[in-house]
Amino acid sequence: MWYSVVASFSLLGLFLHVVEFTKGGITSGFVRSINYSLDMPLNSDVFRAPPGYNAPQQVHITQGDHEGRGVIVSWVTPDLPGSNTVLYWVERSENKKYAEGIVLTYKYSRYTSGYIHHCKITNLEFDTTYYYQLGLGAGYSSRTFTFTTPPSPGPDVPYTFGLMGDLGQTFDSNRTLTHYQKNPAKGQTLLFVGDLSYADDYPFHDNTRWDTWGRFTERSVAYQPWIWTAGNHELDFAPDLGEHKPFVPYTSRYHVPFEASGSTSPLWYSIKRASAYIIVLSSYSAYGKYTPQYEWLENEWPKVNRTQTPWLVVLMHSPLYNSYVHHYMEGETMRVMYEPWFVEHKVDVVFAGHVHAYERSERISNIAYNITNGICDPVRDESAPIYITIGDGGNIEGLATEMTEPQPSYSAYREASFGHGILDIKNRTHAFFSWHRNEDGYAVVADSKWLLNRYWKPSEVSPVASI
Ligand SMILES: *[C@@H]1O[C@H](CO)[C@@H](O)[C@H](O)[C@H]1NC(C)=O
Ligand SMILES: *[C@@H]1O[C@H](CO)[C@@H](O)[C@H](O)[C@H]1NC(C)=O
Ligand SMILES: *[C@@H]1O[C@H](CO)[C@@H](O)[C@H](O)[C@H]1NC(C)=O
Ligand SMILES: *[C@@H]1O[C@H](CO)[C@@H](O)[C@H](O)[C@H]1NC(C)=O
Ligand SMILES: *[C@@H]1O[C@H](CO)[C@@H](O)[C@H](O)[C@H]1NC(C)=O
Ligand SMILES: [Fe+2]
Repeated sequence: MWYSVVASFSLLGLFLHVVEFTKGGITSGFVRSINYSLDMPLNSDVFRAPPGYNAPQQVHITQGDHEGRGVIVSWVTPDLPGSNTVLYWVERSENKKYAEGIVLTYKYSRYTSGYIHHCKITNLEFDTTYYYQLGLGAGYSSRTFTFTTPPSPGPDVPYTFGLMGDLGQTFDSNRTLTHYQKNPAKGQTLLFVGDLSYADDYPFHDNTRWDTWGRFTERSVAYQPWIWTAGNHELDFAPDLGEHKPFVPYTSRYHVPFEASGSTSPLWYSIKRASAYIIVLSSYSAYGKYTPQYEWLENEWPKVNRTQTPWLVVLMHSPLYNSYVHHYMEGETMRVMYEPWFVEHKVDVVFAGHVHAYERSERISNIAYNITNGICDPVRDESAPIYITIGDGGNIEGLATEMTEPQPSYSAYREASFGHGILDIKNRTHAFFSWHRNEDGYAVVADSKWLLNRYWKPSEVSPVASI
């Protein structure tokens, strides 16, 4: 079947790259520069601190409540604690309001952080552009930014999410971020699937690379929320350096609204945003039965109202379905625990990172196995999510190019290139997912798929008859 589909594309001249055929889907043979790119040097333009004494830097925002009427604003002041206050107002309005935050510092090995501020703003109007100002107080340098709140949750509210993972801070990372920002699809909020700065690749996990990452990403995340997922590079667990407690730099710098979804940990939580319900899981926290994450997730499913938020999206770092050699089967234990729930509750799509490449699965599940029955192959399952690996942000560790062969039947498309994704929700039944590889410039789609909502439009005609 694929042969004929692909052959007719080729005849039409639509198929630009070499493609291998297997029992599974498509392995793209797109050829790219083999040179790994290095981290941008410390004196790079993207790492420059803003001018002015004690000026707020590394400004970043994320959702601050469960519904989308809250924002957490975070920033770092290098010299003095300064003010924790955020001044905010609606565009063209004279009515300015204040919110009061907190300040903290942390130590890691030889490093001491700057003054890290977090301020939660609540009860904002939906679908409204706000200005916000930081670094208030006489003698300080203040900076002003904007963000736009999402529309009120509802079934047919269009909304566009960007997808990025494993970004790091190389020249490729800078290309990925630039392409995301220039993408005409205009992501309104970024879903980040873990592995942020890769500071832990440096001696002593040099945390100044957390600071450079904060300054590098500010040009997007100060203006639109990034929804954070913890990856293995957030662990910073290093007993040899005297660092016995995991996630200290990450959780000190990146606050998330976990209490709003009844979670007891910032490593797993959920939010509603426009027509989507987004569940964030932690691959690096206990998830077995009776653990806090398991019990929290069990209680999440009944809270999801598909009339209000038709699109059910799960984020995690380690993919449950991956056909690259790198990290193969690392997500298997979590798959065993959570895949039956994903199918039962008709999750639309699961995004993961970790593997430094791109891959999209068929709608499949593998939940029939019970030790003795031998039923252990993935099968096509129209209630199952599509699994998308998007760990191709462009970090210093380079691409994962080795793939398991032949391409397994669950794998629909795979390609080892850097890039980013866009999930463009149109209404309760239709969303368009596209993947944009860096080499093509910002506007070209290298892989795409119309997603039909599993709750509202469960029948999906697929070009592959059986798997
Ligand atoms: C890799 O980098 C070297 C040195 O900068 C350059 O000469 C070479 O052309 C590059 N190779 C590719 C495939 O881009
Ligand atoms: C990063 O990308 C931006 C936007 O394209 C560009 O202005 C900047 O010079 C780049 N910096 C580096 C170090 O590549
Ligand atoms: C689900 O959401 C819809 C639309 O907001 C609302 O009318 C309905 O009452 C909700 N259902 C439940 C069980 O809360
Ligand atoms: C395992 O699955 C087989 C076939 O699906 C079924 O007959 C058997 O009862 C199951 N065993 C247990 C312990 O559930
Ligand atoms: C939902 O969006 C799709 C894609 O844009 C469109 O074809 C379909 O007609 C829309 N459905 C409704 C009910 O508007
Ligand atoms: Fe990772």
